[in-house]
Amino acid sequence: MIDVDRLRLDTPGVETVTHLNNAGAALMPAPVVDAVVDYLHHEAAHGGYETRDAMAHRISGAYEAVAELIGTDSSTVSLSDNATRAWDMAFYGMPWSAGDRILTTTSEYASNLAAFLDVRNRVGVRVEVVPDTASGALDVAALEAMVDERVALIAVNHMPTNGGLVNPVTEIGRVAGEHGIPFLLDACQTVGQIPIDVGAIGCDLLSGTSRKYLRGPRGVGFLYVAPEIRERIRPPLVELETADVGPHSIELRSDRRRFETWEKNYAAIAGFGSAARYALDIGIDPIWQRIRELAAHARRTLGSIPGASVRDLGDVTGGIVTVELQGADATSVRNALRRRAINVSVTGASSAPIDMNRREISEMLRVSVHAYNTTGEIDLLAQALDEILSNR
Ligand SMILES: Cc1ncc(COP(=O)(O)O)c(C=O)c1O
Repeated sequence: MIDVDRLRLDTPGVETVTHLNNAGAALMPAPVVDAVVDYLHHEAAHGGYETRDAMAHRISGAYEAVAELIGTDSSTVSLSDNATRAWDMAFYGMPWSAGDRILTTTSEYASNLAAFLDVRNRVGVRVEVVPDTASGALDVAALEAMVDERVALIAVNHMPTNGGLVNPVTEIGRVAGEHGIPFLLDACQTVGQIPIDVGAIGCDLLSGTSRKYLRGPRGVGFLYVAPEIRERIRPPLVELETADVGPHSIELRSDRRRFETWEKNYAAIAGFGSAARYALDIGIDPIWQRIRELAAHARRTLGSIPGASVRDLGDVTGGIVTVELQGADATSVRNALRRRAINVSVTGASSAPIDMNRREISEMLRVSVHAYNTTGEIDLLAQALDEILSNR
């Protein structure tokens, strides 16, 4: 059983706000804030480069904690500024040729889709969307039927930005593995929320972020690259961290620095490591169980409000709850809630264009719960939303 009181005692923000925007950026627990602030104080007192040496254990600890969280060892994890850049390092590093096929999913994140279309425009790859099952999750049988020798990548999200849908990643990984196709998993919304084991999933590449369900600071992302595929991915941007540079030659590194930059936000990385350790100490299994219970409560409560319809897809759903509003503009409703110190976000058609266009939804309120939230907070939101909608 998760100790919710302890989680809330650790989270100073719960005193000031009802925070239901964890899929945007979660409230950081106090130990995470302390890790960042302590690191900055050390830099201010001793110097940035000197602090990097003195705090080397904090930095290596961050790689170790995130590796443990996804079931790998720290040599396979590279850090970046955000999840998109981490994902880009893998995607743009692939050896694309005209006619290569990329198989993706209806709910893929807009930045990933942008990169697919960019490489399509420049190189002539084909971007193909695997159909969904009736529930809205990726249809694994349809994926398998689409596979041939020209499929160069399967790239999907674990949970999209615009709904609580959980895609069947282990079955997708099985198809990828059986056909020897690289599998790039966008786990931006699920690291810290759902138990993840890259070996059990069978993904070769996985990207994630610090600030969402891990509850770390903003400005840190990471990339897992399976050792077997590392040499096939060429860093798309080369500098002295990604390569050994001589006067007339470069040699790309074959360790995790291959996908990193030399300069990093070390204070944020210290906080990221603390967040990953904090999540491990609580346990992702109980976190996932509590998030699902809270999300189910949110779907029931919000779905019964006149003028609000829950729109999440999937057989298995997690902490993101999306609500379409009839006759009300989601941004003004979000702002009205914010004035009452209740944080939710708006997910628009531009964040997951294929899915939102085919469902003809222009925007939804996104309510995203984490383990430290309570049913009382959800009820407070429901009451406020009901009032705002009925006063229109
Ligand atoms: C599913 C998904 N993938 C990728 C991203 C991008 O993450 P970042 O903003 O850290 O680049 C997001 C951000 O909302 C997301 O929801």
